[in-house]
Amino acid sequence: MSSKQVPQSCPFHPQDPNFNANPFPVLKELREAGPVVYWEEGQSWLVTSHEDVIKVFRDNDLFSTNFMNWEHIASMMGASSNPVMEEIMLDNMMMLPTKEHGRIRRLVRPAFTPRAVEKLAPTVQKIVDEMLEEAEKSDSFELVSQFAEPIPARVMSAILKIPEEARETFNRFTLALLMSYGQGDYSEEEKQKAIQHSEEGLDLIRDLIEARRKNLQEDDLLSILIENEEKGERLNTKELVSMVAGLIAGGFETTVSLITFVTWHILQRPELKARIDSDPSVLLQTIEEVLRFDHFTKMGVYRYATQDTELGGVEIKKGQRLVVLINSALRDESVFTNPDTFDLERDRSASVAFGYGVHFCLGAHLARLEVRIAVGTLLKRFPNISVVQPPVFGFSPVVRKVDTLQLKLHHHDA
Ligand code: HEM
Repeated sequence: MSSKQVPQSCPFHPQDPNFNANPFPVLKELREAGPVVYWEEGQSWLVTSHEDVIKVFRDNDLFSTNFMNWEHIASMMGASSNPVMEEIMLDNMMMLPTKEHGRIRRLVRPAFTPRAVEKLAPTVQKIVDEMLEEAEKSDSFELVSQFAEPIPARVMSAILKIPEEARETFNRFTLALLMSYGQGDYSEEEKQKAIQHSEEGLDLIRDLIEARRKNLQEDDLLSILIENEEKGERLNTKELVSMVAGLIAGGFETTVSLITFVTWHILQRPELKARIDSDPSVLLQTIEEVLRFDHFTKMGVYRYATQDTELGGVEIKKGQRLVVLINSALRDESVFTNPDTFDLERDRSASVAFGYGVHFCLGAHLARLEVRIAVGTLLKRFPNISVVQPPVFGFSPVVRKVDTLQLKLHHHDA
């Protein structure tokens, strides 16, 4: 590693509140510093260029998703506040070696094809309609807590067909799961509660799986996951439980953020809103361009070098961590013309918004469906919807989390 590749002071401070609102000037500075630059504070390499992001995603054996390969892992282990969840997440498909990952991925893929996901549209529509029915009763509307946040949890519990009486247990499990990979400052009592809620939630999921094994249903996610066989192989209960937990974890903050960002971008642009009003299919391109232009991730995704190697002109040592900055790749000027312009018509075939390669987002079609129905129905039902206060950002280690986006649903003439 030559010293010129390491900027004297790295401008990357992802927990800085200004980074939430607009990380792009900092990401541009990083790209100018190099395609791969060292970030002392995070003991990691930042992968900033589109080309190198793709290289990392392409070589899943050299750049592993399994954090057990990290040189600093020993000092990190045991720091988790929730050992129950940690064990489940260690079994998650994201963490598996390429071959085993491929096996699980082939078994679960049928449940996430565009056709399979499209069948969920009436379920998602019903949930969104019920929520907007409720919202209509008052004029003020806080998008995040009243709309975006409840949607993925409700959709997932409808998809899994969680019985009404177990919904509370499921919701508490979801919160415990999110808490387990956050870095919030929780009290001992909160941590103990989260462990208890995790155990209860895991029991619930195991019971659901056992019940479904005896009574497989058509067009049902759990049944598809249970039933699909590849050379006589099935997912065992442990794999199924960790799959379900992975779906909840992978689909929660992401979907909440995307609903919020897409709504905010549309409401800032009256001409775009008018286009969507007259042609709802414009919303589909809008979702893709919001993902490209304003990716909600903060830190991208991690990989761990399994061998000494070279990337972007620097030497990466075995055991070192790479922070793959998807948000930077999506603004890379060598791939996207005028990357800082929001342009629906642009070519987005190089987008890495849902990742790339073997770990490409399994939930991409489901995410698009949820956002399309949620935002589309909101705009249709409240044609005069307007912004009262721009997004207020909060804390999350993973995403640029919007805490509140205050809207007004009805237009009142003075
Ligand atoms: C809302 C927008 C979403 C975005 C932008 C997004 C983004 C991503 C990205 C970038 C990856 C690759 C991670 C890596 O390579 O390290 C990924 C993987 C994954 N996502 Fe998503 N995601 C979204 C929604 C969802 C939803 C709704 C679900 C499930 C219900 C989901 C489930 C998953 C799973 C299971 C993986 C791992 C796939 C594998 O290892 O093969 N995601 N996602």
